Formats: sequence, C-alpha cells, structure tokens
Amino acid sequence: MNISELKGCFETRQTPFYYYDTQLLAETLAAIKGETDVHEGYHLHYAVKACANPKILRMIQQAGFGADCVSGGEIRLCLQNGFPADEIVFAGVGKADWEIELALEAGIQYFNVESIPELEVIADIAKRMGKVAEVCFRINPDVGAHTHAGITTGLAENKFGISKEDMLSAVRTSQKLSSVRFVGLHFHIGSQILEMDDFEALCSRINELQDKLEAAGIAEVRNINVGGGLGIDYDDPDKHPVPDFKAYFDTYARHLKLRPGQHLHFELGRAVVGQCGSLITRCLYVKKTKTKQFAIVDGSMTELIRPALYDAHHLIQNISSDDALQTYDVVGPVCESSDVFAKDYPLPETRRGHILAIRSAGAYGETMASQYNCRALPASYTLEELLS
Ligand code: LLP
Repeated sequence: MNISELKGCFETRQTPFYYYDTQLLAETLAAIKGETDVHEGYHLHYAVKACANPKILRMIQQAGFGADCVSGGEIRLCLQNGFPADEIVFAGVGKADWEIELALEAGIQYFNVESIPELEVIADIAKRMGKVAEVCFRINPDVGAHTHAGITTGLAENKFGISKEDMLSAVRTSQKLSSVRFVGLHFHIGSQILEMDDFEALCSRINELQDKLEAAGIAEVRNINVGGGLGIDYDDPDKHPVPDFKAYFDTYARHLKLRPGQHLHFELGRAVVGQCGSLITRCLYVKKTKTKQFAIVDGSMTELIRPALYDAHHLIQNISSDDALQTYDVVGPVCESSDVFAKDYPLPETRRGHILAIRSAGAYGETMASQYNCRALPASYTLEELLS
C-alpha cells in the first residue's frame, strides 16, 4: 500500500511514531524463504538488533526464522516472542557472565565466541552449570566492505572476532575443554553492502580457512555462519522495496565451498526490516533565515539517529502536499546541531501540520532510539493497526 494513501490514518495520531508496512514485511520474508528453501542447508537467524519491535519479531518468528542476538536482553525478548531457544545464536565482543548463564539456562543453539578469554569464561560457567556449550568462533576475515567506516567490521583493525592467525589455536583450546564443543565458524564483514563482490571475497577467505582447518586434521565443522550485511536502496525504496535476495544467496551458492552436510547460517537484519519501516513526523514550524529555510519537525535524532550518527541519507516525503518544490533543512527539536534529517532537501512546499514520512527506517531506527532531552520512546503502528 502506497504510504500517501495512509495520510488520514497518520494525521489523527500523535506523532512522531514508527509505521511498519507489515504487508511489505510479509513479502520480504516470503522472498527470503523462497531463496533459502532452494538451497539445502541454508538458515536465517534474523539479526534482532536491526528491529526488536515485538510485533515485527513475532512475524519473523512465525515465518520460520531463528534469531541472532547480541545481548541477554535480546535473548529474553526473543524467548518471550516465541523463538525456540535452540534457534537462537548469541554473538558480541563483551558477553557478561549473567548473559552467558541466561543463554546456557535457556539452551540456545550456539555462542559466536569472539576471543579465547571469552571461550574460557564460557567453559567455566558451563562446567559449573553442568552443561556443554556449543561454540562457533567468530573469525575476523580481514576482508573490507564498500560501506560506511562506522559499520565495517571485518578488517583486522576492527574490534570484532578472533584473528585468522589465531583460529587454529582457538579450536585446539576448545578441544581441550570438556564443557564446550566446537561447532563452526562465524563471520560478518559489515553492513549496508550492495556489492556482491564483497561477499564473494568473504567466500574465498572462508574457503581458505576451511582448507587450513582440514590440513590441520579438523574436519568436523558443522556450521558456517556468514553474518549479515546485505544493503537496501535508501534512495528509491519504492523502486526496490524487496532487496535482491536471489543475487545475495546465489553469490554464496556459487562461491562458498560447503562441505557435505554443512549448514550455512545467515544473520540478515537490515535487508529483512529496513524498507518496511518509516518514521512518521509532523511539521511544527517553518523558519526562514537569510540563507536557509528550516522545516522543523516533531521527530528527531532520538527516534532516528542514523543521519546524525552516520550522515545517513533517508528519503523524506511530505505526504500532505503536492505543491511546487522548495528547499529545506529538515531538522528536529533536540538541542544538538546534529539533529538534522537532511540538508538542502527538496520538498513540496511544507507548512505547519503537514505529515512527513522518513523512509527506509525499519532497521536501526526504533532500536537505536533514546530518551535524550527526556523525550518519550517512539510509539509504533503496523498497517493492520492503522486500518482497524
Ligand atoms: N551479524 C553481526 C555479527 C552483526 O554485527 C550485524 C550488524 C548483523 C549480523 C546484521 O547486519 P545487517 O544484515 O543488518 O547489515 N547501526 C548501523 C548498523 C550496525 C550493524 C551492526 N551489526 C546502521 O544504522 O547502519
């Protein structure tokens, strides 16, 4: 459903809020399912950090996907929203003891372990609890990605993972510990990646590392987890509402040499939920200065921090006006100069009360909201809720 058709539903509600196009989410989930079903042994663990709204989580769970969590809070939320524990994987460079205990108690599928000291702590805790923890090692593949420096994770200089030189010693250490079982390798090179070549480079690296393990006599690697990272079209969300999942999964099918019986796990976040969410905000004032025209809206960096934090570009639509275009800085009310959604941005003439939709905000929008300036966390509505 075209977002401007919902103008009436938006106008009667208090802004700002997130609107989730659940029809588009359903289409996106079906597209992923279609592709993962074609390839044997492919599984998706949705990266909960992208959007942890329970309404969205439940849809993703019901579509048959597992979850990739990075905190005890995310694990709890997933359990409360129907994800079976054994379909949850747990990553993160700094897992606290209570989070490890929670994960072991719940019986998650496996930990993505990011250092040998972490492995030893997991082993101690598991032993004390009388459990065996299944672990994949997150290996830093030292593969770059064509994306924003703030969201590149797979370079040697980044804090994530175990260096590829230390992979063998991590596996050997795990083999000496009776309360952990090595079940695979984990990678993630970054986010908002649109060049399939980057994923292809990751595949080559994984092939090399698997050869190295085999040469060292370590043959049993049940899972390869390649993380997430597939990007979305922020410039024209209506042209590409569903990302090109075929190109993405086919890249792995073509370039990754899976061993017989091996499972391939994905942790997509942005590509699953990015296009289905919009931040709906209302224009409070239009202020003209000598050099600028500001559209001051009631949404801010506390609801959507991506433009302030990463200089991220989101398409903005004034759905209340189709007058001639003018140029605006679209800004929020928060007391920070960086509380800007877009500078010198063309919008149909905008007046107080007009509804603006900030598009492609489903991923890393609501989950990154804060209460700075004592602002309330944003409300959210699904398409069904708006229409009921
Ligand atoms: N797996 C791991 C280990 C990750 O670190 C991430 C994202 C994902 C999966 C999911 O990646 P995706 O498919 O969503 O690209 N806040 C930033 C993005 C940070 C991504 C962090 N890690 C943004 O707003 O662009």
